Amino acid sequence: PWVRCLGKERTLAMIKPDGVSGNYTEEIKRIVVEAGFNIVKERLTQLDKETASAFYDEHSSRSFFPHLVSYMTSGPVVVMVLEKRDAVSDWRGLIGPTDAQKAKISHPHSIRALCGKDSQRNCVHGSDSTPSAEREIKFFFKDLVSGDIASQHDEL
Ligand code: PPS
Repeated sequence: PWVRCLGKERTLAMIKPDGVSGNYTEEIKRIVVEAGFNIVKERLTQLDKETASAFYDEHSSRSFFPHLVSYMTSGPVVVMVLEKRDAVSDWRGLIGPTDAQKAKISHPHSIRALCGKDSQRNCVHGSDSTPSAEREIKFFFKDLVSGDIASQHDEL
């Protein structure tokens, strides 16, 4: 996929409403940079019901879906495109397990252990695979298209 090029990879990260309202944005960005990610793009945005439902469409049949959508529309979020080698799996590793309660025990240094509460209010999102990363980056950043990483490196 185009999210992978010349050893670098891109993923979509999101700071969810509890992360933004809890004033964790700057601390999370510091952790991101210290872990070696380049923040390629970022945007503070408020999701509406239609956008949140479309983003989480793969979970639309799950019982928690209405809660997920209402939570994700409850306040502003920060969406970011992160880049580094193995960005998808490294970002998933850094955020920790979905359930922040469990993260506090099994992954105490993860971001969800730091600022999450439970499976819903888990502070951050990360793409779960390179195809998901490609879809999710396009979803929020329509201007980042195929070939973008290549052209960025061609200039070096
Ligand atoms: S999966 O498909 O079983 O692995 O699902 P999971 O990764 O556990 O969760 C997918 C996203 O749904 C959110 N989630 C919930 N929201 C509200 N209520 C409940 N009970 C709940 N359980 C899971 C979870 O935070 C995941 O969001 P993202 O943004 O993908 O991390």
